[in-house]
Amino acid sequence: MDNLEELRSDLLQRVEAATDLDALDTVRVQALGKKGEITQRMKTLGNLAPEERKEAGQAFNLIKQAVADAIETRKASLHEAALEARLAEEKVDVSLPPRPTTIGKMHPISQTLEELVAIFGEMGFSVAEGHHIEDDFHNFTALNIPPEHPARQELDTFYMPEREDGTRSVLRTHTSPVQIRAMQNTTPPIRIIAPGRTFRADHDATHSPMFHQVEGLVIDEKTNMGHLKGVLIEFCRAFFGVKDLPLRFRPSYFPFTEPSAEVDIGCSRSGGQLKIGAGEDWLEILGSGMVHPKVLENCGIDSSKYQGFAFGIGIERLAMLKYGIPDLRTFYETDLRWMKHYGFLPMEMPSMVRGL
Ligand code: DAH
Repeated sequence: MDNLEELRSDLLQRVEAATDLDALDTVRVQALGKKGEITQRMKTLGNLAPEERKEAGQAFNLIKQAVADAIETRKASLHEAALEARLAEEKVDVSLPPRPTTIGKMHPISQTLEELVAIFGEMGFSVAEGHHIEDDFHNFTALNIPPEHPARQELDTFYMPEREDGTRSVLRTHTSPVQIRAMQNTTPPIRIIAPGRTFRADHDATHSPMFHQVEGLVIDEKTNMGHLKGVLIEFCRAFFGVKDLPLRFRPSYFPFTEPSAEVDIGCSRSGGQLKIGAGEDWLEILGSGMVHPKVLENCGIDSSKYQGFAFGIGIERLAMLKYGIPDLRTFYETDLRWMKHYGFLPMEMPSMVRGL
């Protein structure tokens, strides 16, 4: 039994003496492991008389427990010491400037789209979405586009293969079919814009087979051409940030509006430099008009009760003019250098309050 007291104090001392976690683990194995000192000694208990065995067994168990407890305590304090040492060593200098990180940029199309949403949102428009793959009715027929209209020609339009029943879908050639869907699905008053992707079989410096438009539609009982003009003047001035931007409403023709007007903004081109807002020249930027009664009727809206206006704008063109981007094709080349130059920081969400 004397031996046991020695063993106990020896092991506890060794636990205390362990200066790191590895050393501590070595002591644990030496004491409690399969071939450890306590384990080995406990195996000899079988040689003792039953009375002594019971007493010795209890004593061994107490030592075992004491050593195990001491190891746990030592472990905790070694852990803490290691953490303290690391904290002392790894100082964070909060005064250092941040490392440069690669931040992605917003594409000018996305930015322009957000600007449109901010401006029209302020005027009470909500955003509607349609389908990229449209049917003939929504893309053409309901919009009063006659069969001989050039927009319907194979050469200008991406048609899907014909179905068995003779119908075929088309990649929408404009955002105007969203007008139809809005009028079919809601009862007036309606006040929406529908920004999105559109497709035509065109490809040159000023045309891309995939491009973007934003459609606008207002329908209620009293909306008239004065409202159309007011909304579009307000929009152009806010978008280009030119307070007294001159606008010209030029009579035009669209099958789905009557009367129709194209809208030009004032600009100058002197010295080969395009300047928006001032000058003697005009630049066409959008199409508009009062919704044709036939279109209202095609959507089940009573044209003797309701009326309103619509407009359609090319988003690329707006972005090119506002941000001085000379070539339409570069929008889709996914050139990172171009994005770095023309892109916008993601956190710079346009809002009317902060300015566009
Ligand atoms: N959908 C026409 C186009 O793609 C643009 C347009 C013109 C839309 C006049 C309209 C509108 O809503 O009233 O050329």
